[in-house]
Amino acid sequence: MRALVATPELIEQELPTPKLRPHDLLVRVEAVAVNPVDTKVRAGVAPGGPPRLLGWDGCGVVEALGEALVKDGSRFQPGDAVIFAGDVSRPGCQAEFVAVDERLCGRRPRGLEAAAAAALPLTALTAWESLFERLGLDPEGADAGSTLLILGGAGGVGSIAIQLARRAGLVVIASASRPESQAWCQQMGATHVVDHSHPLGPQLAALGFATVEAIANFSDTDAYWPVMAELIRPQGAIVAIVGNRAPLDLNLLKAKSASFHWEFMFTRSQFGTADLAAQGRILDRIATLVEAEALRSTLTRRLSPINAANLALAHDQLRSGRTLGKIALEGWGAPEGSDGA
Ligand SMILES: NC(=O)c1ccc[n+]([C@@H]2O[C@H](COP(=O)([O-])OP(=O)(O)OC[C@H]3O[C@@H](n4cnc5c(N)ncnc54)[C@H](OP(=O)(O)O)[C@@H]3O)[C@@H](O)[C@H]2O)c1
Repeated sequence: MRALVATPELIEQELPTPKLRPHDLLVRVEAVAVNPVDTKVRAGVAPGGPPRLLGWDGCGVVEALGEALVKDGSRFQPGDAVIFAGDVSRPGCQAEFVAVDERLCGRRPRGLEAAAAAALPLTALTAWESLFERLGLDPEGADAGSTLLILGGAGGVGSIAIQLARRAGLVVIASASRPESQAWCQQMGATHVVDHSHPLGPQLAALGFATVEAIANFSDTDAYWPVMAELIRPQGAIVAIVGNRAPLDLNLLKAKSASFHWEFMFTRSQFGTADLAAQGRILDRIATLVEAEALRSTLTRRLSPINAANLALAHDQLRSGRTLGKIALEGWGAPEGSDGA
């Protein structure tokens, strides 16, 4: 099969079609989205070392089922369209085929083109788990009226989190530093937008919020640690998704009895947790919300075909740290070096 691998240069290579584990689906990949995890894993690939097949965000069509699924039944059958983020410890999906555990897959929302569907799974899972599992907010509105500060509102994770939080009835204060990213946060439904290039406390105070009940930090954990401690309401909760570079002073949260939570979208797949299938269920709920037009794909840039040059463009854009929403690549086109005839 055709595959794009990091050497760390991005190149196209012919690789064997993946072998299935018992619970895997073999998926023929139609579109892939890029994420900062791709550029981070790529940065760790040593020149001359083993190349790495990247990409943990995509959509495609089920081609075959692993033996446990054939024997015991599966939620999906060959021909079904699925979305998935998968498992970062396994080869990624920037290839014509990927093997992915069925329990991590959701159905592709009907009526959504491939690139827009591929833009959903990784960020939707991260946002959903952050808000509704780690922070313990209610997705269906039992916490309506609670205040949530989202740091990094315009990026991939932020822009789907704003939508999910607003749908849950929360008062969402999203941060963005440029006119276009601020406008994007408004489009995603943010109640208020603040600028993270200026001190946040006075901006929140001007909006009438001395503190907030919850904070979702989708950016730099170290940089925002003291300000999060200042802005969190007593007994409030904070979630972060980016590993810290230096030790964090947990004591800053003690007087307020504030809680801190990590969210790592690959925890369930990495440890094979008993509730692994929760990710498939979350993705099915996301599909239902998209079909009901209660949630929209955050795709802002679609590149075609899926090839090394377009993937390099997408990585450059992501590394700028200024992406709005998501970038995805769609369709395989003619193999490199062919005249397409
Ligand atoms: N733990 C997990 O499971 C998990 C999952 C997904 C992502 N992540 C990590 O979370 C981070 C965000 O991911 P993403 O996909 O949302 O990234 P992204 O799409 O590349 O985020 C881009 C956005 O970041 C904003 N930004 C830049 N500097 C900022 C700052 N100082 N404060 C707040 N926002 C800032 C920019 O907004 P402005 O242009 O307005 O400044 C831009 O819109 C990455 O480090 C990624 O690796 C972790």
